[in-house]
Amino acid sequence: MSPIRILGLSAYYHDSAACLLVDDQIVAAAQEERFSRKKHDEGFPAQAVEYCLKQAGIGRHEVDFVGFYEKPLVKFDRLLESYIASAPRGLRSYLMAMPMWLGHKLWLADEIRSKLGIDKDVLFGDHHESHAASAFYPSPFEEAAVLTIDGVGEWTTSSVAHGTGAGLSMLREMRFPHSVGLLYSAFTYFTGFKVNEGEYKIMGLAPYGEPTYVAAIRDHLVDIHDDGSIKLNLDYFEFVHGLTMTGSGFERLFGGPRREPDAPVTQREMDLARSVQDITEEVMLRMANTAHSETGSRRLCLAGGVALNCVGNGRLLREGPFDEIWIQPAAGDAGGALGVAYALRHKYLGKPRVSAEATGAWQPRTNGGGHGTPPEYADAMQGSLLGPAYSDSDIAAWLQTNHVEAERMDRCALPARIAGLIAAGNVIGLFQGRMEFGPRALGCRSIIADARSTDMQSVLNLKIKFRESFRPFAPAVLREHVADWFEFDAESPYMLLVAEVAPSRRVPPPVGAEALWGIEKLKVARSTIPAVTHVDDSARIQTVRRVDNPLYYDIIRAFYDLTGCPVIVNTSFNVKDEPIVCTPDDAYQCFMKTGMDVLVMESFVLTKRRVQDENNTHTTQEHR
Ligand SMILES: [Fe+2]
Repeated sequence: MSPIRILGLSAYYHDSAACLLVDDQIVAAAQEERFSRKKHDEGFPAQAVEYCLKQAGIGRHEVDFVGFYEKPLVKFDRLLESYIASAPRGLRSYLMAMPMWLGHKLWLADEIRSKLGIDKDVLFGDHHESHAASAFYPSPFEEAAVLTIDGVGEWTTSSVAHGTGAGLSMLREMRFPHSVGLLYSAFTYFTGFKVNEGEYKIMGLAPYGEPTYVAAIRDHLVDIHDDGSIKLNLDYFEFVHGLTMTGSGFERLFGGPRREPDAPVTQREMDLARSVQDITEEVMLRMANTAHSETGSRRLCLAGGVALNCVGNGRLLREGPFDEIWIQPAAGDAGGALGVAYALRHKYLGKPRVSAEATGAWQPRTNGGGHGTPPEYADAMQGSLLGPAYSDSDIAAWLQTNHVEAERMDRCALPARIAGLIAAGNVIGLFQGRMEFGPRALGCRSIIADARSTDMQSVLNLKIKFRESFRPFAPAVLREHVADWFEFDAESPYMLLVAEVAPSRRVPPPVGAEALWGIEKLKVARSTIPAVTHVDDSARIQTVRRVDNPLYYDIIRAFYDLTGCPVIVNTSFNVKDEPIVCTPDDAYQCFMKTGMDVLVMESFVLTKRRVQDENNTHTTQEHR
């Protein structure tokens, strides 16, 4: 029987993406921004589609079905109804939105067919069903509760579903304008950050603040019901009918106008961040309780933009009713491309899901447990390494064409060499394997460094990323050692769970540290891995298994053998406001314009100035 090839697409809002599902196998998935080099690119994902087809070795006419992640006509209906309900107040935003809708969104099926150059029916999924499908079908669970939370899809802003085998029943929903994601985005806007982009900054800022505005938010802005549903007081929000998220109501309630994007962050912004983070976590916990009682499941799958709130996810795991949580790594709208492809396969075509009984692959497998032998599990995401890869011969050809010299290493000797360079304080650009799908770099397009270094946080921010950040960098840790270093002993392969550094690894802050303010607090060593420890002793953990990413694992393992520390810094291979690198050329350009010391591209090692390894023996040529 010939395989069924389903192309899933998400586009025209933010983070456009394409995904190709061939039977039950995700053959390829990628965000358009990585190819177009336009961050959060919302255009048609033409280059991502090209890549997916090339990866599968098929032509566009060999695609059997095309799915789009949401229903544009229903979304249009929401826009129209919202305008009518608030008319004439929303006239300006309505008139501004119309050209885009009339230009292509309403005729999307024709547009997609013409852009793809194929004459196939396009099936339109439901936005939250696409999120739910992206959370459940590739998860390691045969049965699970599914929770989706974001800003808004067509009408839905949050949903509870139940997945069993190939079935996915949507059970409950919350509807626009009542939305946790939009509440969080309103505070993102009011504290001077970019909506749909700066939400993670609020999460990083929260530990510096006090929850002084929680009462004001609860009294004036939002009613939180026992089941986790919320009701926003629309007198305070402008997003239904205006061109901004908040207006004069917020200014009155929070003591003045919003912070201008270039103005300094003050204690008010920190307290607002902490307050809205606390409220969001409470809502997430209540929603999880509802998902648990509705389904009776012990397992939870999560997706939607709010599922990228890894601090909230960490609390769900610690305090919520579920034994296990699996979060779709592309939890935002890019993951909708994957979700609609899965929904099309199982719900529309009625194809069975590969079951635990059939393969033994879906269920977590216990191999004895105990220290050093965590249970194995398998999801269908392949480590979320679903993008393009470049072989040694591709890299060699690129180096030759561009007259760039590099040292070719024996693959067996490479991990120890890189570990030595990290231990000696070098910052390494690591370009290997298939590019990650989703917003996090997971060791294939990553910058890695020594987590034990007290100044690495500043070095990375100022010399490499060209930014000041309230967030520390994230740790990548060998899975079998995670419980020795963090208050955590579970899987976090996609860096979407936050937990505290283990008390045994913490150090008391020096005298006078309590007087420090704002970002200065982050420069105080709070643990033996200060580069990855936040001011509240928390860390955004990536657990690493060899089966998911062999070279990455071997590097951390070699670093552990050398230093006794199984933790390194992992941050995305890009600079501020640019997408993560995709090609050897992107990687080299980023390497050359930053203070990075070493670039590793598969087996090739490039250094731009004299670098030393742990034994002070190695020097290499100048590249600048
Ligand atoms: Fe969404």
